[in-house]
Amino acid sequence: MKKSVTIQLIRESDTPLYIQLFWHLKRLIEEGVFDGNERLPSIRKMAGDLEVNNITVVNAYKLLEKEGLAYSRIGSGTYVCSGGHDRHDLERPGAVRNGVQIDGGGETHVKPGVINFASSTPDPELFPVEHFKMLINRVLDRDRGNAFGYHEIQGYQPLRQAVCEYLRSYSIEACVDNIQVISGAQQGIDVVSKALIDFGDCVFVESPTYRGAIEAFRSRGARIVDIPMEEDGIDLEELERKLPVYRPRLIYIIPNFQNPTGWSYSEYKKKKVLELIKGYNTYVVEDDFLSELGYTRRKFAPLKVMDREERVIYIKSFSKIFMPGLRLGFMVIPEGLWNRILSAKHVSDISTSGLLQRTFELYLRDNLWVRHVSYMKEIYSGRYEMFIKAVEKHFPRAVYYKDPEGGLHLWFKLPEGYFAGEFYNRCLKRNILITPGSLFHTSNTDDSHFRMSFAAVAPERIEQGVIAVAGVLKEYLAEEPFFPYRTDGYSPFV
Ligand SMILES: Cc1ncc(COP(=O)(O)O)c(C=O)c1O
Repeated sequence: MKKSVTIQLIRESDTPLYIQLFWHLKRLIEEGVFDGNERLPSIRKMAGDLEVNNITVVNAYKLLEKEGLAYSRIGSGTYVCSGGHDRHDLERPGAVRNGVQIDGGGETHVKPGVINFASSTPDPELFPVEHFKMLINRVLDRDRGNAFGYHEIQGYQPLRQAVCEYLRSYSIEACVDNIQVISGAQQGIDVVSKALIDFGDCVFVESPTYRGAIEAFRSRGARIVDIPMEEDGIDLEELERKLPVYRPRLIYIIPNFQNPTGWSYSEYKKKKVLELIKGYNTYVVEDDFLSELGYTRRKFAPLKVMDREERVIYIKSFSKIFMPGLRLGFMVIPEGLWNRILSAKHVSDISTSGLLQRTFELYLRDNLWVRHVSYMKEIYSGRYEMFIKAVEKHFPRAVYYKDPEGGLHLWFKLPEGYFAGEFYNRCLKRNILITPGSLFHTSNTDDSHFRMSFAAVAPERIEQGVIAVAGVLKEYLAEEPFFPYRTDGYSPFV
């Protein structure tokens, strides 16, 4: 160790000692107190110093291994993974994760001429500007200066009413008092974090997950625990195992067309998540940013539909289907949380723009929203078909993906020995932007996936873009795979 450290365990706490020790060690690793590949104190020494059983230290070390922070060498001890100590630096502007430069706030600079498969923002050509202009003028003629006053923190009442009616078409029963208007889903996640997370509280997230959520929880000092995301939803066994261990305050999930995988929960998994959390003082934060965009006959209902026990905080974004710069969305808040959510929203921006709320209310009431959604669905499903056909035709078979039946992106797995950070940089040199999967993880451990979205690519460039990416892939996969952790083995002549 570089300096002496004091670890204090609280014996009267409800949190088991091994979990407390795990959190202390995790923090020390992240703060760089331990170097990468440094050996942790032996189990006997650590147990003796802390006056705990050996098994407490064994369990804490095992948990560090599970979280990708440490590894063990048989007969030698437990060592810190290299890379574990610079987790927080990764999020700083200019930081590099698996060879990928991260700008402040997670943006990427897009040069002209680049084929952009990284953005899942709609093409501005598709924004309903004329309709919106007409409705803004209607609001201005009708409400004059009132449109520019402060609005209720909870949101413009007629808009909340219109939202309730819209939700009914999704079989979500909510009353006007349950609705909180927000300035985009990102603000919703932030407001929920402010309202419900105290420093050190635990939050479960799917792994991988939306980066903006990771950052929001981190900014509150939450301990973030990953639960693997599978092709039909969160890993239930892992969720069940970790619930009693960590007792999370929140569980953040994206049940439909998850970002970044594009995968959706089966009905079984949705039901099961709600069953498993019974008896825990936790809330599920459902981020619904895309559930309208299913392109097959399968139904992609929000989890909120099944929420009989008021345990789901439902966050709805309009960004991907409407106009992201509008910064408008809403939440459905379970009873008992209103006051805390209201104070957090007040602290964030007092209220969402009144002019935009009033205009969007007319947009919903005049049925323009429903028409716009079906228009966007038609456009996107056409592009999706083009995209997936091109991928099927041109990508090497060794690159795995699952058809998500909707949404805006595909999630690819490279064969073993090839790395998405490296692949990202090779694409960049050819003026192609993809998103390396490591950006969607809480730690630096998975570099085998990448995401491609077709939302921002003009239809006439989709196949050409896929061919270009396939070309880079083929070149890369023609090289020998690289296994940095594999060393030469020895075979005894026995
Ligand atoms: C899963 C997910 N949630 C929320 C957001 C942010 O949405 P908004 O623009 O409504 O803040 C995004 C943006 O990409 C997202 O991917």
